[in-house]
Amino acid sequence: MISPICLFVFSFIFSCSYASHVQDFCVADYAAPQGPAGYSCKDPAKVTVDDFVHSGLGVPANTSNRYKFGFTSAFSFNFSGLNGLGVSLGRTDVEVGGVVPIHSHPGATELVVIEEGSSIIGGFIASNNKVYQKPLNKGDTMVLPQGLYHFFVNQGKTPAIIYAAFSSESPTVQLLDTSLFKNGLASVIIAKTTLLDVAQVHKIKKLFGGTN
Ligand SMILES: *[C@@H]1O[C@H](CO)[C@@H](O)[C@H](O)[C@H]1NC(C)=O
Ligand SMILES: *[C@@H]1O[C@H](CO)[C@@H](O)[C@H](O)[C@H]1NC(C)=O
Repeated sequence: MISPICLFVFSFIFSCSYASHVQDFCVADYAAPQGPAGYSCKDPAKVTVDDFVHSGLGVPANTSNRYKFGFTSAFSFNFSGLNGLGVSLGRTDVEVGGVVPIHSHPGATELVVIEEGSSIIGGFIASNNKVYQKPLNKGDTMVLPQGLYHFFVNQGKTPAIIYAAFSSESPTVQLLDTSLFKNGLASVIIAKTTLLDVAQVHKIKKLFGGTN
């Protein structure tokens, strides 16, 4: 005899697998309303191979900024075929002496490979404050676990190209500097909560256009 719990588990498994097998893909329909889980699915009859191909990661990003880095994304907002698949790609260009500032992706693990460059310090900071960092060279791969702060510093003699895969089709990013200094959060509060002094907070806010 099948127990009610067993029945429940089986119907759950069945409904899950059924749900993921009703269709092969859910190409983003940018014209339709967006739900919490992503874009609506484009009518499969209207899907073409071009929905599954994205061009653009071959071009270096603009690195004219104080960090001397640029990022180009192939995320679901710009690559319709990724919708619903939970993966995406990006390309980071870092000039000699440039950095990718400390940031995190709250909902995504990142897996990078160094396409060009050498002596690129890749690092992340675990929630117990332990730092894991190492110079990376062409062909090296590093994984940056979900949600943890991470960074890159190009200490080599040539520009770096770093490709990154994400475990989300639409990863969000939170930069430490801009979270603190690019908004109207009162400088007094920032000073009190970070132990920086107010003058230092004002100085950095000026760089990012923060107020208060
Ligand atoms: C989306 O990607 C295309 C290249 O496929 C590029 O031309 C366009 O600028 C990108 N749009 C955004 C908003 O990044
Ligand atoms: C690169 O970005 C800078 C700063 O936003 C801008 O002034 C410059 O025109 C951009 N260069 C190109 C080639 O788009």
